[in-house]
Amino acid sequence: MNLKEKITSKTARVGIIGLGYVGLPLAIHFAEAGFFVTGFDIDRQKVEKLNRGESYIKHIPSSRLTSHLSHFTATTDTDRLKEMDAIIICVPTPLTDKREPDMQYIENTAKVIAKNLRTSQLISLESTTYPGTTRELLLPLLESNGLKVGKDFYLVYSPEREDPGNKKYNTKNIPKVVGGITKACLEMGISLYSSIVKEVIPVSSTEVAEATKLLENIYRAVNIALVNELKILFDCMGIDVWEVINAAKTKPFGFKPFYPGPGLGGHCIPIDPFYLSWKAREYGLNTKFIELAGEINTSMPHYILQRTIDALNDRGKALKGSKILILGVAYKRDVDDDRESPAYAIMDLLIKRGANVFYNDPYIPYLKKSRKYDFGLTSSKLTEKFLKEMDAVIIITDHSSYDYQWILKNSNLIIDTRNAINSPNKGKVIKA
Ligand SMILES: NC(=O)c1ccc[n+]([C@@H]2O[C@H](COP(=O)([O-])OP(=O)(O)OC[C@H]3O[C@@H](n4cnc5c(N)ncnc54)[C@H](O)[C@@H]3O)[C@@H](O)[C@H]2O)c1
Repeated sequence: MNLKEKITSKTARVGIIGLGYVGLPLAIHFAEAGFFVTGFDIDRQKVEKLNRGESYIKHIPSSRLTSHLSHFTATTDTDRLKEMDAIIICVPTPLTDKREPDMQYIENTAKVIAKNLRTSQLISLESTTYPGTTRELLLPLLESNGLKVGKDFYLVYSPEREDPGNKKYNTKNIPKVVGGITKACLEMGISLYSSIVKEVIPVSSTEVAEATKLLENIYRAVNIALVNELKILFDCMGIDVWEVINAAKTKPFGFKPFYPGPGLGGHCIPIDPFYLSWKAREYGLNTKFIELAGEINTSMPHYILQRTIDALNDRGKALKGSKILILGVAYKRDVDDDRESPAYAIMDLLIKRGANVFYNDPYIPYLKKSRKYDFGLTSSKLTEKFLKEMDAVIIITDHSSYDYQWILKNSNLIIDTRNAINSPNKGKVIKA
């Protein structure tokens, strides 16, 4: 049986490298579609947990794993890549301390695949990255063992469009863009992805597919920066930006709402645009929109800090020595992912100015040490007494499980960065 026949009959063995927020749901999705899936990860604890049928991601119930354990297994043993017919790479693509693309995860993965590469395998890169990665970085590493792309093996790029926690759109109904190094590669990629998603969008090259993902994320970063800037201006003018957006979005064409907040968070929007800025320098170009959006979005925690200082000052209090509760540290509503959360930049600014900072997040019981921060805090229990003791509560993440009216009733002062309090009490609630 050739690779295409194996895919069509779902006897192709699928390997997913990197069992994180992208790789794990994708692996489960292939297993649910009837494929035999092997997940590869360097994190032994994660692998052991998954093999016991335990999910470690809030929005992926363990039952989805346990009911497909006959079709899914996780391993740290990369020699098993040889057994795979299709290999999908979902490893991290962060920025270095100098805010340049950190390609070590893709490079390391490419090297282990190259060691195990055999004829008729399909390799797909899904990690978000700059245009040119698949052809310039991945391909030479894979061909280093003598096999030829398009003839001996197939290579495609297909960006992930996961929106964690979104109840309407999931892996199956989000169209999947695919670009191949050669025509044969593209055809094989279309064949693989059509077996798990409703619609595959073929594009003419891996570069177009890579650029598509970046356009989508840059579009979000720039539009969020725009509303963040307008929020500050409108506030000075006595205009509520939320009311303006809600009115503007009634226009049935030409306008898509974006909402202001305390700054950008998550693994994508604060990071991905800078993959393109970095690549643009190779062409002697500056990506001014990306830089400006980055500047505005990263200044938002300072704005929230200033609004908090002003609100306390109006009540005759200094930030120094005040008790401040941060409500929600996940980067967005109803998820348990706190990567790049603006909550941490705000907490750091508050602590440096002498505030006593506490936090509550139903999905993040304690704060792990990160490259930048080590708060050593656990989530405080929300009680009437505790809320009353706080000088200010800053709503960073508007989780739907919070009872906002109860929080409003028991708090002295609320800085609301998400418009979470529906019936604002002007004396108590500062929309920021
Ligand atoms: N999280 C999202 O919502 C999202 C959405 C779209 C695209 N992406 C992109 O997808 C990629 C993965 O993101 P994520 O959020 O799933 O990351 P993640 O950190 O949740 O998961 C990555 C996994 O890869 C593993 N890993 C690292 N190096 C490895 C190696 N050499 N071999 C095997 N496993 C390895 C890690 O242990 C981890 O489990 C990134 O490029 C990201 O930009 C993420």
